[in-house]
Amino acid sequence: MQTVKLNNGTEIPAIGFGVFLIPDDGTCERAVSDALEVGYRFIDTAAAYMNEVGVGKAIKSSGLKREDIYVTSKLWLQDYGYEAAKKGIDTSLKNLNLDYIDLYLLHQPYFDTKGAWKALEEGVNEGKIKSIGISNHTIGFLENLLPEMRIKPAINQMECNPLFQQKELREYMKPYDIKMQAWYPLGHGNKELFENEILKSIGAKYNKTVSQIILRWHVEEGIIPIPKSTSMNHLKENFEIFDFSLDSDDMAKIRSIDTGRGTHNPDDLSFGETLLKAYKIHD
Ligand SMILES: NC(=O)c1ccc[n+]([C@@H]2O[C@H](COP(=O)([O-])OP(=O)(O)OC[C@H]3O[C@@H](n4cnc5c(N)ncnc54)[C@H](OP(=O)(O)O)[C@@H]3O)[C@@H](O)[C@H]2O)c1
Repeated sequence: MQTVKLNNGTEIPAIGFGVFLIPDDGTCERAVSDALEVGYRFIDTAAAYMNEVGVGKAIKSSGLKREDIYVTSKLWLQDYGYEAAKKGIDTSLKNLNLDYIDLYLLHQPYFDTKGAWKALEEGVNEGKIKSIGISNHTIGFLENLLPEMRIKPAINQMECNPLFQQKELREYMKPYDIKMQAWYPLGHGNKELFENEILKSIGAKYNKTVSQIILRWHVEEGIIPIPKSTSMNHLKENFEIFDFSLDSDDMAKIRSIDTGRGTHNPDDLSFGETLLKAYKIHD
């Protein structure tokens, strides 16, 4: 499996499988088992997805060695602040039924992120977490947080795809070697992306689907995509991107379709309260 080296020397698979909105009624466990069968070795979940238990069950029943699977989870806003975050980490470990988590992220950039980050740093020292990172942190949030961070984030998980390439943020993160991980890499199924004429013509040239071109573009840019699918055919299709490469002309064409706009703006500070109301993971 192709990997990407992180700023702490560890390696992460170049593509992962995301389980947002997959219910923990057996569906998530089945989807993760299917993904592991196809060859994915990196699963992205979160406390707020309420399906860490299913992810853990699929890992246990896979028969794979723990060290051969890379697991990401994320701390939810309700558990921000130092003390609450310490508990949040332990709850994720318990739900996942794992001794350690490979990568643990601050899911959102609001409220007491500094206290929460301190707890994540201690989680690393205690051997509960291998790498730590952030998500949805735009440049302004990073400017505020980076001076407080003893351990620099290895990853920033952001909305990113060919229509929203996050060029400015990626440039900002380069000196810290913070890698971009892409949520909504397939635009959450956005038609505008799948029907883009440039992507379609590049797909025809390589005899690959638009989805494969999009995901290959991420890999070539050094961005780690975590596409989701509940279809076995799509899971396979999205994984078959390591037998070809895009030439520099095609990369330039894809860079040219960036609109600079995504589906949500983390800089809207009222969004923290909205999210907190929308996702209550415990009392
Ligand atoms: N950190 C954050 O705040 C945050 C926010 C959102 C998401 N995420 C993470 O990012 C992951 C991905 O996001 P997402 O699932 O919302 O969006 P996505 O991966 O961009 O898109 C998933 C959609 O694309 C479809 N799809 C997948 N493969 C396809 C293919 N080969 N051809 C055509 N359609 C295809 C899926 O349908 P089928 O199921 O039918 O294949 C599904 O409707 C999440 O699961 C989660 O882990 C993180």
